[in-house]
Amino acid sequence: MPHFLSAEDFSPRLVYALFRLAGELRARRETPKLLSGRSVTLLFGEPSTRTRLSFSLAALRLGAEILTLDERLTSRAKGETLADTLEVLALLGVDVAVVRTSEDAIRPPALAPSVVSAGSGTGEHPTQALLDAWTLYEAFGRLEGLRLLVLGDVRHSRVFGSHARLLPRLGVHLTAAAPRAWLGREEDLEGVADRIALEDVSLEDLLAAVDAVLVLRPQWERHAHSVGTPALPTPASYLERYGLTQARARALRPEARILHPGPVTWGVEIDPALRDDPRILVRRQVENGLYVRMAVLVAAGGNFPSYETGHAAFARDSSSPAERGYFGEGSPPRDDKSPFREGSARAFTSPLHR
Ligand code: CP
Repeated sequence: MPHFLSAEDFSPRLVYALFRLAGELRARRETPKLLSGRSVTLLFGEPSTRTRLSFSLAALRLGAEILTLDERLTSRAKGETLADTLEVLALLGVDVAVVRTSEDAIRPPALAPSVVSAGSGTGEHPTQALLDAWTLYEAFGRLEGLRLLVLGDVRHSRVFGSHARLLPRLGVHLTAAAPRAWLGREEDLEGVADRIALEDVSLEDLLAAVDAVLVLRPQWERHAHSVGTPALPTPASYLERYGLTQARARALRPEARILHPGPVTWGVEIDPALRDDPRILVRRQVENGLYVRMAVLVAAGGNFPSYETGHAAFARDSSSPAERGYFGEGSPPRDDKSPFREGSARAFTSPLHR
């Protein structure tokens, strides 16, 4: 069964198939039990509200048997490696393991369940990037050509680590802007169009030029290595120097959108007065997380036939009102680069239509 450990594990084709399945699952009054008979284990070694709860609810609603492990109460606390723990899960018949770890990468052993990353250290958080991409797609009706500014602690953000590996492949023009000390690592910045130290520019000018801004929380808990470095931002001065203040939000266009993966520390990276700004999508991101994670669990649980290639036909062949509603009047991209372009040829059946 497949692992989903990095945004690179999601091809553009698969991304659009997952969007489609997520949209249909959201539109259904009752969730089909696509994971009936499957066993899903959540293994969490770092705090989480959104990711943990949304994966738990997703597995429950899809009919899976679900077990949740707090990593501190497992034999990880006695020195067992994550790889050995995953092998134990496989030996006990677990089909899918959803893992949040402080390690920067997850490396499953040969004998392992399908592993889905729920966030790994400062490395990646692929399902967060996926749900953010879906939220953008829903808001703008496209990803190709969108200009997105990622603003904040780029260096320590696993969310950014996944965005940088996902969004450029979907045609998004990605700009990373951060305090110079937190600008990011070369390996994460490869696909990023622009990288900008906030000390060198007018943030208002940057904001005025984009379709959307994704604000990141300063990851204070991951800064131990840089304590004592001069010119590091501090919580008290962060909003005025680098954050999304009301004045800076006025520089954004009225049709622009504001995203944040959460949790937001209001008053540090975003002014609390913007909580109900009509352009802010933070609540929608939380809601979308449930359906995107349902779709990913279906793929991880092996109930997503031909998941690597077949979704194109899934997109085109569908006639369900839910899918038509999601995409509007046949609005998925149809150009030569479209992930749907091979759609009509293959008889693909959605897990919901079998
Ligand atoms: N965005 C995110 O991962 O939030 P949680 O830490 O609450 O899961």
